[in-house]
Amino acid sequence: MGVAWRLFGNPALRLIDSENAHSISMKALKTIGETQSGQSLLNALYGSPEVPIEVFGKLFHHPLGLAPGFDKGAEALLSWSAMGFSWCEYGGVTRYPQDGNAKPRMFRANKHHALVNKMGFNNPGASEMRKRLSARKSANRWPKSPVAANIGRSKKVPNEHAADDYAATLELLWDHADMFVLNISSPNTPGLRDLQGHEYLGSILKSCNSIRSMKGHSKPILLKLSPDTNDDDIRDTVSFSQQMGIDGIVATNTTIKRPIPLSTQSRKAFSSEGGLSGRPLHSRALEVINMVYDETDGKLPIVGVGGIDSKDSAWEAIISGASLIQLYSALVFNGPTVVSSIVKGLKKRVNESGFSSINEAVGYKHI
Ligand SMILES: Cc1cc2nc3c(=O)[nH]c(=O)nc-3n(C[C@H](O)[C@H](O)[C@H](O)COP(=O)(O)O)c2cc1C
Repeated sequence: MGVAWRLFGNPALRLIDSENAHSISMKALKTIGETQSGQSLLNALYGSPEVPIEVFGKLFHHPLGLAPGFDKGAEALLSWSAMGFSWCEYGGVTRYPQDGNAKPRMFRANKHHALVNKMGFNNPGASEMRKRLSARKSANRWPKSPVAANIGRSKKVPNEHAADDYAATLELLWDHADMFVLNISSPNTPGLRDLQGHEYLGSILKSCNSIRSMKGHSKPILLKLSPDTNDDDIRDTVSFSQQMGIDGIVATNTTIKRPIPLSTQSRKAFSSEGGLSGRPLHSRALEVINMVYDETDGKLPIVGVGGIDSKDSAWEAIISGASLIQLYSALVFNGPTVVSSIVKGLKKRVNESGFSSINEAVGYKHI
């Protein structure tokens, strides 16, 4: 297991195609993280301390979760808490199965600690996901920590029918997540970002709200924003969604903007179409978190994501207004120890700042 697990942080993985490296890591996780002994081992190596926070009426062991895109098919759900995350988000899932875009579709820019991806929601579709998740539950392999589902629009469905598409996936997955994120912000599905307009967004939120009322059991529904939308439109989308009853905002998805490349590798990565994640995204993600906090007077929970890879970047996101945070790219560049090192750092910062809990730090910058 030591060997398999070290693959995750093995520099050799940096030499092979990014998506293959990811598949190798996922395979290792699937075998290790799904057994009791593997979980104990992961937990001994990577477990995080408690920095409890209550959000959406739920107690999280600490704020840091796994961002969606890493475990698209919810195949290693038991691994994430053993690796020190307090929650995870699987997906993006679409109503219909999709292969995604042609490979290669994931590129690394090591010098920048950045990735560019144009995956295009490759996933088995909501009905198949539901089957797999039901089987997992029946086999008693469901995590104790909160699980979120990321929902995207099927590529073949036009925006005019997006509301039905999102609602159908939400209904199919309803029993298989504690919270749901409507992803209208991936740059890799043509036209997806246009769904931020009132007309489309209004009908998506309405149809998702009616699924929720039909189910009779309230679970939070969040909206994930693009960092590339201009500030006025972000504010407008946030206040409109708040009026429409959204429970939280995720800031942010990947960006289509690019920094100046520092190497041949990054030039190649940045010349690909798709969304950039990792360190260069952090400052814009922070701006959006701050904007959402201001626009909602801190009343709507925010999930902060984008370039979080250290205790400092995590703390900045929290004092800017995020109650929960997530990461993806840092797992690739820093390896799995990044999780516990961030959480330990947050615990220390809470104590040093004299807060009685991390809840008091959320949005502290705005006071
Ligand atoms: C390969 C890859 C696939 C992703 N897939 C999704 C997805 O399906 N749904 C989604 O909302 N975000 C997706 N994301 C975006 C991440 O969840 C996150 O918002 C973004 O990577 C910024 O966080 P990071 O800088 O910590 O990576 C993906 C990111 C990457 C790198």
